[in-house]
Amino acid sequence: MTPEDRERTPREEVLWRQLYQEAKENLASRDFEVPDMEARWIVEKASGYQGTKSTSVMDEKASTLEIKHFKAILEKRLAGQPLQYALGSWGFRNLDLYIDNRVLIPRPETEVLVDIAHGLLSGCDTETPHLVVDLGTGSGAVGLSIAQECEDVQVFLTDNSQDALKVAAANLTGLGNDARKVNILHGSWFEPIPQEHRKSFSLIVANPPYISTDEHLPREVVDWEPHAALYAGKVGTEDIEKIITEAHHWLHPKGAMAIEMAPRQTEAIAQKAKEIGYSNIEIHKDLAKKDRIMSCRWKP
Ligand SMILES: C[S@@+](CC[C@H](N)C(=O)[O-])C[C@H]1O[C@@H](n2cnc3c(N)ncnc32)[C@H](O)[C@@H]1O
Repeated sequence: MTPEDRERTPREEVLWRQLYQEAKENLASRDFEVPDMEARWIVEKASGYQGTKSTSVMDEKASTLEIKHFKAILEKRLAGQPLQYALGSWGFRNLDLYIDNRVLIPRPETEVLVDIAHGLLSGCDTETPHLVVDLGTGSGAVGLSIAQECEDVQVFLTDNSQDALKVAAANLTGLGNDARKVNILHGSWFEPIPQEHRKSFSLIVANPPYISTDEHLPREVVDWEPHAALYAGKVGTEDIEKIITEAHHWLHPKGAMAIEMAPRQTEAIAQKAKEIGYSNIEIHKDLAKKDRIMSCRWKP
């Protein structure tokens, strides 16, 4: 809503401050951990005012439509939906991604994967545009960030979930001009990529499922996030292994790959990558200083 639209919209007698208080008290009474912060996020989303501007909106009256929006978000959150799904969008690097329970909530540790991607691409002197693929793209967080942040790239987003790809497609429309750098493909890992692109990728990135079926996860995750995005199988590394086994057929001889995984998986996966024949194997830490991402190159 633009400031002009706000001027024209009839206001109720309810101030945003009162709505903020209502949300805070409701969330606190149900033992949510940070009720004040969540109440502020809900006000920001429903009012359209972010950051310091959301402080100035507190003494303004909300419109009927805004109150409806506010109540809908609060209701979803009180029913137990993760905050990100209740809000309907979440920030990832420079993007404000549309999200719902068809896709994994993009995590802060995955933002580091994009930093690693920058480093690998800048050290890559293949012809341009650089071909990049984001395998298991979900909301499109990683691949769309690369398309937005890197100049000379052509990015494929793949996922075997049609539902997830609908979300990625919605997010692609928010990319403006950079959307022309992106192709969305449905299928398992490399299977939907045209054969002509074998041995052509400057960069392969993936944040595949890496949870084992017997691993304990918080209720909010198990109850709401898509299981196909979380669980890989009995061991947890099944999808990572499939990807690294096939990736070298798709990598340009000067290309590189970066895969996110659980900290406890990095050592075994690095060893496996070495056995397959990858070189320049490195393990990178996430924002919490935990081993999180393996990068490597392929030496034929
Ligand atoms: C951990 S989520 C990551 C989503 C997104 N890349 C992110 O980082 O937020 C894993 C994604 O892989 C997809 N996936 C699972 N198995 C797949 C397969 N065999 N082929 C392609 N994608 C798959 C899931 O649908 C899900 O979107």
